[in-house]
Amino acid sequence: MIIAIDGPAASGKGTLGKRLAHHYGYRHLDTGVIYRAVAHALIQAGADLRDEAAAVAVALELDPEKFGNPVLKTQQIGEAASVVSAIPRVREVLVNFQRQFAADPPGAVLDGRDIGTVICPDADVKIFVVADPKVRARRRTMEARSRGEEADEAAVLADIIARDERDQNRPIAPLKPAADAYLLDNSQLDIEGGVRAAIDIIEAVRAGRPRT
Ligand code: DC
Repeated sequence: MIIAIDGPAASGKGTLGKRLAHHYGYRHLDTGVIYRAVAHALIQAGADLRDEAAAVAVALELDPEKFGNPVLKTQQIGEAASVVSAIPRVREVLVNFQRQFAADPPGAVLDGRDIGTVICPDADVKIFVVADPKVRARRRTMEARSRGEEADEAAVLADIIARDERDQNRPIAPLKPAADAYLLDNSQLDIEGGVRAAIDIIEAVRAGRPRT
């Protein structure tokens, strides 16, 4: 089974994806980390984030062993990843890696922006996670502070709004729900509540119950 989770920055889709993968015994891929790794490698090489040739070269050489680097989680790298991910050739290069990950047994949960629309259009279940931007900014700020980083909530909110705008309006693979995605608004839910709501959706789909 393939579960596709899409949604905007800081909507909680990463935590949800991880928890769902654990629940079902599947593998989990946070696809944002791939774009973050490309952005980080470009910055380290001193290249421009819009330099297509350099970005493609880096994307071709990606090493999944480095996906755990904590620096990839920072707001600066997230913003840079949003820029890099708008380059069509970079996305093309990364499609196969993601599809291969999805196809390997026993099943997989992938979270990102275009999983249900582009990477796995035949996913068994598609969930589009949304949350109020202010709620997302609050959560992201708390998360950064818990890692010992300084975070100004107003600046985080501005970053989230700018990234939503860029991710939704790019010409290739824009952030948008697939026609057959289930919407999950977790503005008022804590992590457990979001996980329960997602499991309810998945179980309803597996049981062939009509969507509510
Ligand atoms: O989910 P995230 O914050 O880690 O993603 C970082 C950036 O990467 C995001 O702003 C857009 C891009 N991204 C993408 O274009 N497609 C994906 N499937 C995942 C992330």
